[in-house]
Amino acid sequence: MTQVGIVGAGPAGLMLGHLLHLRGIDSVILENRSREYVIERVRAGVLEQGTVDLMREAGVGARLDREGMRHEGVYIAFRGRRHRVDMADLTGGRAITVYGQNEVVRDLIDARVGTGRPLDFDVSDVRLEGIETGRPVIHYRKAAGPQRITCEFIAGCDGFHGISRASIPSDRLQTYEKIYPFAWLGILANAPPSSPELVYSLHERGFALFSMRSDTVTRLYLQCRPDDDVAHWPDDRIWSELNARLRTDDGWQPNEGAIMQKGITPMRSFVVAPMRDGPLFLAGDAAHIVPPTGAKGLNLAMADVWRLADAFGHYYATGRDDRLKDYSARGLSRTWRAQRFSWWMTSMLHRNDSENPFDHERQLAELEYLVSSRAAMTSLAENYVGTPLE
Ligand code: FAD
Ligand code: DHB
Repeated sequence: MTQVGIVGAGPAGLMLGHLLHLRGIDSVILENRSREYVIERVRAGVLEQGTVDLMREAGVGARLDREGMRHEGVYIAFRGRRHRVDMADLTGGRAITVYGQNEVVRDLIDARVGTGRPLDFDVSDVRLEGIETGRPVIHYRKAAGPQRITCEFIAGCDGFHGISRASIPSDRLQTYEKIYPFAWLGILANAPPSSPELVYSLHERGFALFSMRSDTVTRLYLQCRPDDDVAHWPDDRIWSELNARLRTDDGWQPNEGAIMQKGITPMRSFVVAPMRDGPLFLAGDAAHIVPPTGAKGLNLAMADVWRLADAFGHYYATGRDDRLKDYSARGLSRTWRAQRFSWWMTSMLHRNDSENPFDHERQLAELEYLVSSRAAMTSLAENYVGTPLE
């Protein structure tokens, strides 16, 4: 028996468990992968100001404060030139922090273990029951055999391919989806970053992104085909493509080094509404996916669980469920804002082969306008650093 059963130990599930703990609410977190797999999974790296503030306020920001890299600007590159967008200047001092998602997950797992509250890895056959009767039960299997937990509520934090959203009858959900005709090949390289800030680049060969993880590790992405396979991308092909797409006329290009990790991420926009069915609440990628160009996925997941923890806290403190009732509408409003921004960044910066020369010139005109107008740069900057949690 627990108050909130949490399915999934990604950033959403772990942060929710921690925020509930701080409010004295008990939870059980179930994860179908191993602890090592979850900690080593390389994904996003850009934390909005609101995510950083949340980690600090929740008491899990010490390593982030030491090792995270605060960036007050970002570069947009096209036609051989890099243009800096001064985010801090345009947003009254807000910035992003570069800190790997897997480091966030590592810090949250350490915090959870420190509380002594349950966090079970390597569980299988997770199944939800009793959602429609309002008496939810999570069934699952551990090495010791089948298990069940009766919950007052369930938080589905199990990502896009999880079982929580799939447990809601489809006629109770509306879904919105857009699939893009490209994907990202991402690598981690043992090479000191050659720029102190990120570079988003549109080249006629396609999009490329320069990012980093530390003084010695560079993170790079390049647009590839959605059906591409990492086997088609030997290291020299990756470097030659990255250099062609990122090199600018002033001679800047990424430093090369040993490639430690490679992976392909498909790109989609996806929203489900509502984000709740009775006692089951969806949060993070279980409820919505954005293409990675705006770096919003992880940050949206954090905003969801911040709101959900606040709603549960209010419910258990006062017996009133008004914030639980508002959870979905408020989440959808933030989601659609992030969807619009992520779609816009993606469309502006990727080469779409089904488009014609008119579209390519329009894309370049959009970039020219962006880097020459303070109003346009402010619009990018305020969305990129993220709106405060509210
Ligand atoms: P997840 O991190 O997906 O966590 C869900 C957890 O639930 C996982 O640990 C999963 O193993 C577990 N789970 C799944 N099914 C079950 C089950 N049946 N039972 C128990 N547990 C289950 N965003 C960016 O901003 N930039 C990026 O570069 C970027 N790259 C990405 C690359 C990939 C391959 C993917 C999939 C996503 C990427 N994202 C990126 C998005 C970002 O990482 C996600 O938005 C973020 O992970 C969302 O956190 P979450 O906790 O909601 O979901
Ligand atoms: C990173 C990922 C993103 O999706 C992005 O837009 C910027 C940076 C990263 O992994 O560093």
